[in-house]
Amino acid sequence: MTRMRLGHTVLALSIAVGASAAPPAGAQTAGPARTIDSLLARMTLEEKLGQLNLLSVNDRPSPAQLDLVRRGLVGGFFNLTGAAATREAQQVAVTEPRLHIPLLLGFDMIHGYRTTFPIPLAEASTWDPAAVEAAAHVAAREAAAAGVNWTFAPMVDIARDPRWGRIAEGAGEDPYLGSVMAAAQVRGFQGADLRASDAVLATAKHFAAYGGAEAGRDYNTVDISERTLRETYLPPFRAALDAGVGSIMTSFNEIAGVPSTANRWLVTTLLRGEWKFRGMVVSDWTSIDELRAHGVAGSRAEAGKRALDAGVDMDMVSQIYVDDLPALVRTGRIPVATVDAAVRHVFDDPYHGATVERERATLLAPEHRELARRVAREAIVLLKHDPTLLPLGATRRTLAVIGPLADDPVAVLGPWSGHGDPHDAVTPLQGIRARAGEGTKVLYARGSGANDSATAGIADAVALARQAEVAVVVLGETADMSGEAASRSTLGLPGVQQQLLEALAGTGTPIVLVLMSGRPLAVAWAAEHVPAIVQAWFLGDETGHALADVLFGDANPSGKLPVTVPRALGQVPIYYNHKSTGRPPAAEKYTSKYLDVAMTPLYPFGYGLSYTTFSYSDLRLSAPRIGPAGSLTVSALVTNTGSREGTEVAQLYIRDEVASVTRPVKALAGFRRVALRPGEAQKVEFALTARQLGFYNQAMRFTVEPGRFRVFVGPSSAEGIEGAFEVVGNR
Ligand code: BGC
Repeated sequence: MTRMRLGHTVLALSIAVGASAAPPAGAQTAGPARTIDSLLARMTLEEKLGQLNLLSVNDRPSPAQLDLVRRGLVGGFFNLTGAAATREAQQVAVTEPRLHIPLLLGFDMIHGYRTTFPIPLAEASTWDPAAVEAAAHVAAREAAAAGVNWTFAPMVDIARDPRWGRIAEGAGEDPYLGSVMAAAQVRGFQGADLRASDAVLATAKHFAAYGGAEAGRDYNTVDISERTLRETYLPPFRAALDAGVGSIMTSFNEIAGVPSTANRWLVTTLLRGEWKFRGMVVSDWTSIDELRAHGVAGSRAEAGKRALDAGVDMDMVSQIYVDDLPALVRTGRIPVATVDAAVRHVFDDPYHGATVERERATLLAPEHRELARRVAREAIVLLKHDPTLLPLGATRRTLAVIGPLADDPVAVLGPWSGHGDPHDAVTPLQGIRARAGEGTKVLYARGSGANDSATAGIADAVALARQAEVAVVVLGETADMSGEAASRSTLGLPGVQQQLLEALAGTGTPIVLVLMSGRPLAVAWAAEHVPAIVQAWFLGDETGHALADVLFGDANPSGKLPVTVPRALGQVPIYYNHKSTGRPPAAEKYTSKYLDVAMTPLYPFGYGLSYTTFSYSDLRLSAPRIGPAGSLTVSALVTNTGSREGTEVAQLYIRDEVASVTRPVKALAGFRRVALRPGEAQKVEFALTARQLGFYNQAMRFTVEPGRFRVFVGPSSAEGIEGAFEVVGNR
C-alpha cells in the first residue's frame, strides 16, 4: 500500500470521528477523511479492532507483540521510546502488515521527558501558565525526538484530599487555576500545529472526578452530584478541550455507581454530544477489564461491549477489543458502524522526524535545563519567613544541611519522572554547596531515613547543627510516597523526621525547613516552632540550584499554594472555595467547626510569602452593575512596600451573595503576576465575564442570576481588599 500522506492532525483527531460526524474544527479533513473512508473499506474487522488495541512494552516490543503488529492487531504501543527503538517498530508497522499503518507511540510525560521539571503540583505553584506551557513544550520536543507521538498528560484532576497520592500529578484544588494550567500544558505539548516535528498529541486525564476518591484512597469510589462534577471536576477538561486536546483518558473510578470506562452519559452524551469532542478516547490501564472487578460486567466480552458502547475508542492493555469483540460484532451484538466510528487512525511521517542524532541533540539540552531551573525557582513557596535568616547572607561561615532528603537525587525527581535520571539531578546539598562558595563551610548529616524508625543518626545531626550558624533541614517524602497507588492515611512528616526536627530545633541553631513532598503536609508543629519554612515539592533536575537561588536570595520567592495546607488530617477535605453552610463557623457552639482544631487551614490556598512585602489598594470596578451577559474590569494597585525587587501573584476572587442554589464563599476568577521594584506600584486589571459568574441552577442549566457579587483582590484566598457589583436583569 502506498504510504498515507496525511496530516499529523488526523492522527489526533481521526479515531472516533465517524464517517457521518462533523469534521473537527481546524482539521484538514477533506483528503484525509476520504482516505480514511477508503482505508476503512479495505480493513477486516480484526484489523479495525487492532487499531484500537494499545499495548505497553517493556523497553522494546516482545516478538509476540511485533507479530501482532505484523498481523495488523496493534494500534499503538506505550513506554516504547528512543529514536532507534521507535523507528524500528514503526518500520515494521509501515512495511510488513497488509495495510502499513503507523503506530501511535505513547508515553507519560507528567513533568518532563528526560529533562525533569517540577511535579505538576509544583508547576501550578508558579501561577505562571507561560512557564508551564514552555515546560510542556520542552517535554514534547525531547519526546518527539525520541519517536514518541502521544503523551498521557496533562493530568487535570482536581484534588482536594491530600491523602490521595496523585494530587502530586495535577494542579491542585481549584477549577479555575486547574483550567488555566490544563490549557497551558495542552498548548505546550501540541503546539500550534500537531504536524510539527516537535509536537505530541496530549491527553487530558482522568475523565472524570478521579481525584474525588473516598478517603483519598486511590481507585476508590466517587459519589458526587452532577453539580459538583460540572462545577468542580469538569472545568479543566473543558479548558483542555477548548485548547484543542486530541485525546481524553477515562478514569478508573466510578461516579455514583457507573465506572467512567462504561459511562455512556459521561463519554458520549456529555463529552461528544454536549462538548463536541472530536478526538479519541482511550481507557486507562486495563480499566476495560476492570469493569468485571467493579461488578458491572460478567465477562471480558461484556466489559469490552460496555466500554465500546460508552464511547471508549482505545483499549489500553486489556486486549479485550481485539480478543473478544470480533465475535460480538459477527453475531450482531455490536454494530460494525460502532467499530468504524472508533477507527480513524492514519499518519504521514511515521518516524515524525525522530532520529538518533536529533534525539542526542535534544535531550537535556542546556536551554531545557535552564528553563527547568527557572520553573523550579518559581515553584518554591515561602510559607514562613524570618528576615534575619533568609536570604542566607554571605556572612554565614558555617551552614549545616541536614535531613534524609538533603542529598537524595532520586527523591528530587518526584513521582512519575519519565526518563528523568537521578544522575542528572542536583540535590539540595549539591546546589547549596555550589552556591555557598569558598568562604562558607557546608556540613552535612542525613539525620535519619525518610520513612523508617531508626533514630541512631539523630545525635550526629544534632552535633552537626550545633557547629553551624544556620541549619537548612530538608524533610518530607520520598518520590514514591506520592503518585499512583501512593495514598497516605497521615499527613505528617514520615518516619522519625518529626523527632529529628524537634531535636534539631532544641539545639537553638536557627532552622530553615525545606519541605519536599508530593502533597501538602500538615506540619503544625513546625509552623509554630521553626522560624522559616520553604515548600519545595519535588522540583526535578534543577532542585538544588533552584533552591539555592531562593535560599541565597539570587531569586525572590514568588510561588503561591495551589492547594490548602491543613493543620490536621481531620480537617481533610479542606479547600478554600467551600460552601457557607447554614451555620458558618463562629464562637457559638452550634456552628460548623471542630472542638479540637481551628476551622482555618495552616496555610490557605493562594498563599506564599516573598522577601519583600506588597500592599493592595485602590480597588476599582469599571461598572457598578452589569447585565447577565455583560462583563466588567476589576482593578487594584499593588505596591512593593519592601526593599527588594519581587514578583507578586495578585488574585481575584468572587462571591455570589445570594443565588437560587448555594455558591462557594469565594471562587478564584483571575490572577496576574506582577514584577515590582522596591517602592514601585502597578495597577493590575482583571476582566470578569458573565460566564465566570454563572453556575448550574436546580434544573442543571448554566445560568447567570441577577444579584450582588463581592470581589476580593489580594495575595491569597484569605486576604484582600473588597468591592461589590450587581448583575441586573430578569431572573
Ligand atoms: C495511570 C495513567 C497512565 C497509564 C499509562 C495508569 O496506571 O492511571 O495515568 O497514563 O497508567 O502509564
